[in-house]
Amino acid sequence: MALDQEDGDYDSYVGNTVLTAASTSDGVLGSEQMVDATLVAAAADLVLLEAETLTAHPTRAQAVRVRATARVLTLSNELAPGFALPRRELDALSELLDRWDETSDAGRAHTAHRCAMAVVGQVPSVVRDAVNITLLPTTRMHDEQMFVRCIQIFESLYRQVADRIAQSIIALDSGDTARPLALLGEAANRVRATQGLYRVLTTMPPDAFAVIRAHTNGRSAVQSRPYRQVEDLSAPRPSDGQGPGEAHGMTLQGTLLLREADLGSQPAADIRKVMRELDSAWRAMKRSHWGVTLKTIGRVSGTGGTAGADYLRATAQRALFPLLTTNTPT
Ligand code: HEM
Repeated sequence: MALDQEDGDYDSYVGNTVLTAASTSDGVLGSEQMVDATLVAAAADLVLLEAETLTAHPTRAQAVRVRATARVLTLSNELAPGFALPRRELDALSELLDRWDETSDAGRAHTAHRCAMAVVGQVPSVVRDAVNITLLPTTRMHDEQMFVRCIQIFESLYRQVADRIAQSIIALDSGDTARPLALLGEAANRVRATQGLYRVLTTMPPDAFAVIRAHTNGRSAVQSRPYRQVEDLSAPRPSDGQGPGEAHGMTLQGTLLLREADLGSQPAADIRKVMRELDSAWRAMKRSHWGVTLKTIGRVSGTGGTAGADYLRATAQRALFPLLTTNTPT
């Protein structure tokens, strides 16, 4: 951040160049698994960061945050199934969550830290190093480090969802319905698991976020490319004059409508169902984002220049596949 404190963008804030370079195949794991390994490494580091803070400052608010981050790590097999962790690594964390009220802050911090360290040990070293050097906050505030890790987790997830939609378009276009069913079902599961991340984000104190915002003007996830890809690959989107404009090209909705008559009625109905599931998970995720935004900054405009919460509320209402929502056969 010393280098681009004044003119940096969202990509540099997230460390996208480094994280993307580190998640190419290492010859053992494919690039999809490496992206999931990045997500897991960021989640484990989030637990380490918060557990260390609980040891130093054992407050109730910090304990709540550690619990939320530990939950995220226990969800990693849903958030990042391509880098599935051995059950034993997560069981100790789930046990801690079950016995949370009977455990002291020191015990909570110790167990959470130990489990997260064990997870970090599973991650390929290139990913671990990339995650270590991409914690580049613009302030000295602890809360910003949590924020950066959350963004990195979401970015990896958006990449995986966009990739699954792109692969589904190609498969569907060649008449294959089995593969898109599996891919889109998995994408929907991933998106559903983001609810755990919003529990972490709701622990962001508004006064702390006000300081972060003052240093991150012009850097906003409205610039996230994989997020935009998810929406652009799903269906043509109307421009609202605030976010990015309409994109053209093949979309999942368009491919389904074009190919539907050849797929057979049951396979086509199954595809429609899984697309609706993905749509509903995506919109639920966006509603949660709107809720967190309202709680944290109220109705002021965003660092990306939109109207802020009101813009997010409007985009959360927009279906990923608008023609499937209105033309759903009963
Ligand atoms: C307390 C936490 C957060 C607040 C207050 C917040 C606030 C906002 C605001 C006001 C916008 C509107 C765009 C702008 O003008 O900047 C926005 C957009 C967006 N934010 Fe967040 N955000 C938070 C956390 C996150 C996180 C962790 C992510 C994960 C990457 C994220 C992803 C996005 C995306 C993808 C958009 C674009 C939405 C769209 O165009 O449909 N946000 N956020």
